[in-house]
Amino acid sequence: MISTTMSLAQAMVRESPDAVDIFRIRRVAPKRPSFDSIAQVEKALAAAPPGDPSVAGQARWLIDHIVERYHRTHLAEFPEAIRLARLVESVHEADADCPRGLADHLAFMADDLECHQRREEVALFPMLLKGGGPVADFPIRRMMAEHLDVQDQLTTLAAITRDFSAPEGACETWRQLCRACRKLHHELGDHMRLENDVLFPYFL
Ligand SMILES: [Fe+2]
Ligand SMILES: [Fe+2]
Repeated sequence: MISTTMSLAQAMVRESPDAVDIFRIRRVAPKRPSFDSIAQVEKALAAAPPGDPSVAGQARWLIDHIVERYHRTHLAEFPEAIRLARLVESVHEADADCPRGLADHLAFMADDLECHQRREEVALFPMLLKGGGPVADFPIRRMMAEHLDVQDQLTTLAAITRDFSAPEGACETWRQLCRACRKLHHELGDHMRLENDVLFPYFL
């Protein structure tokens, strides 16, 4: 289990020297290209043909944004959701509405996602930062296939939590758990949409 950004960075570089590119960008160019918003970057990439060098800066910015805004956030938020789920499952075991199996499902999702994100950060993203090309096709398609698995996991998450709704009169912990699961569901969806529909098509 990766516990800090620094240990993740060290692990990534140890596993693949190419991963150092992700960190080199910040050291060599601390003033990364500034764009007004993610919407502006999305629009520019969507309007350009794949590989268009005029929007290469936007593609690099998007990789950075995905890692910072989504990869880091998901990994930081899963442990709390798992803790809340274990608490609710143990306190409300006898309740018919108890989200049984939720903590284990969240733990499975977190492990699976950590592996997936790690493969993106260690192998695929450094490749894309160097311009991608035919060598990136297979890993991109592999990541897109894994996103389908995550989508299935999200469907199960919604089912176990009854669409993220706590029953009437539920305690604050249970409500908090539903909010945490709803946020994970929403943000994982955004994250995968950015990769599937905006980032990856630019490199295919
Ligand atoms: Fe990702
Ligand atoms: Fe991904």
